[in-house]
Amino acid sequence: MTNSTETPGYSQKVYKPAQEYRDDARIKDYALSYANFEKDPEDFWRRVASDLLWFKPWDKVKEWDYPHAKWFVNAKCNITYNCLERHLKNNRRNKVALFWHGEDETEKIYTYDRLYKAVMQFANALKNLHVGKGDVVCIYMPTVPEQIIAMLACARIGAIHTVVFAGYGASALNERIVGSGAKIVITADVAFRRGRTIPLKPIVEEALIHAPSVERVVVLRIQDPPTALLDDFEVDFYEIMKKADKECPPEEMDAEDTLFILYTSGTTGAPKGIVHTCGGYMVGAYYTTKYVLNVKDDDVYWCTADPGWITGHTYAIYGPLLLGSTIFMTEHTPDYPDLGIWWHLIEAYGINVFYTAPTAIRMFMRYGETWPNKYDLSSLRILASVGEPLNPEAFEWFYHVIGKEKCPIIDTWWQTETGSHMITTLAGEDMKPGYVGKPIPGITADVFDKEGNPVPPNQAGYLAITNPWPSMMRRDHNDEERYKTYWNSKDCQYYSTNDLAIKDEDGYIMIIGRSDDLIIVSGHNIGSTEVESALISHHAVAEAAAIGKPDPVTGNQVKVFVILIEGTTVTEKLIHDLKYHVRQTLGPIAVPAEIEFVDSLPKTRSGKIMRRVLKAKEMGIDPGDISTLDE
Ligand code: WT7
Repeated sequence: MTNSTETPGYSQKVYKPAQEYRDDARIKDYALSYANFEKDPEDFWRRVASDLLWFKPWDKVKEWDYPHAKWFVNAKCNITYNCLERHLKNNRRNKVALFWHGEDETEKIYTYDRLYKAVMQFANALKNLHVGKGDVVCIYMPTVPEQIIAMLACARIGAIHTVVFAGYGASALNERIVGSGAKIVITADVAFRRGRTIPLKPIVEEALIHAPSVERVVVLRIQDPPTALLDDFEVDFYEIMKKADKECPPEEMDAEDTLFILYTSGTTGAPKGIVHTCGGYMVGAYYTTKYVLNVKDDDVYWCTADPGWITGHTYAIYGPLLLGSTIFMTEHTPDYPDLGIWWHLIEAYGINVFYTAPTAIRMFMRYGETWPNKYDLSSLRILASVGEPLNPEAFEWFYHVIGKEKCPIIDTWWQTETGSHMITTLAGEDMKPGYVGKPIPGITADVFDKEGNPVPPNQAGYLAITNPWPSMMRRDHNDEERYKTYWNSKDCQYYSTNDLAIKDEDGYIMIIGRSDDLIIVSGHNIGSTEVESALISHHAVAEAAAIGKPDPVTGNQVKVFVILIEGTTVTEKLIHDLKYHVRQTLGPIAVPAEIEFVDSLPKTRSGKIMRRVLKAKEMGIDPGDISTLDE
């Protein structure tokens, strides 16, 4: 049973979860748990970390040398030891670790024991290719079990993985391979998407033209007959695996050693190579999957994120495996072969915890309740969302139509940089549509003005995290200076999230959007400058500016303003070419929905494009301070 009450101000509604959901929560009393954390933050994290296995304990929980933090100082660990051996020891040997469902209806099942064996053997195959501790391996694969095996195999031997979303184009892939200095690229011949076969290997071949660090390419050959491989350079995934030894002990990693680099779009220049560590990241992923998502031992858990994003890393793979959960994973997009496929899969696999994105929810909303109502969704216990604001309409739909007014909706706010959840409403707590919730125990956050003073309730300001936390990024792999820009002020020593937010009198936080030039399309970060550089690299384009234009389904769409080279005429063919060019360079997600041809762009006197002026004009709102605008 639920009830909702009207409260004044921004929050129109409060949903109170039924008592059974309060009882089911692992954190039953937020205030108490938060107070315990505040009393002794280091002891709080020490207790969390003590659930996991360490080869050598830490000398100190935290070392804070602003703006650099170390967590679990001098401890030794391996995340795969905690994702695999820890469960074999705890009677989960034959528990299903992974149910995988392919687009062609094939199914693959890995128990913890099978996954453990596959990871060890593939880890040895990598060793045979001379991959060792500290080497970088780029993984550019479709959503298949071998992708998880490849990631864990790297972690097993201390190699650093950098997973690149398989929807990226050749130049984006090249930039990430070169930026990370990858020695090996692991890919597949093809990916299946919406009934189409998408060749991946040719994209890798193109990306490798100027990538001197790469010594070998490992190819998972899915198609029959198998694609030909280039002697001495390309090797087959299963052939090298079969030839390798079976036993592979976990490499002893320092807690502060790099576990992975994940590239995310920045507002300026090249993508950021966010570095996460073996110890702190592991603790953050474990803690939040357990206490925020509240995944229980006999649950089947489905996070729809692609492993190419941070959500895929932390909540499709590492978090649930650290917990010993049963993961469900699929190649299926939500609308193919029809709009019932996800609901069908929830019914068929008895999914209990379902974690997805507002863009998917809004897409389903457009087609009404008929599709979900065809299926039995009664196995669902918890619904969660991430990536962009879950607007109240989408919250309501998710809550009523999918959750049947019983499942808590856990709207999780965090970032690639934070590694794991920061702000959310825990299962069992009162829910306010439109608000993500409060900082979880372990995390301190607040809303500030430009000078770093806290703003009064219900006023917009900048969201900051006010203390370091274990799973925070440690650096930008490609730019030592850039890390410091997150910790903007020497006086307050806060991590700035670049999000705008509002906090109400109960401490619930509403995320308004980005304060920088990132465009979030369907929950994916796209840098304005990335789209602009892609366009400028086209021969007909002189200058370009990209903005996000609100869209009811995807959150935002990319709109670009283009100045053409003198003498170029606008034709349908040119518009098509420009879109195709962005697709080839960055991938389909970044393709502009709208192109407007202009003669000039608003710029500051120092020559920076003022995108917010374009955006304000586009949306018919006040552009704010334009004193720096160059006439
Ligand atoms: C940005 C981070 C964290 C995984 C997915 C995206 C936005 C994220 C929410 C949410 C409102 C959200 C923020 C944030 N965002 N979650 N629950 N409500 N906005 O990771 O690509 O690093 O993007 O996504 O703007 O700063 P990311």
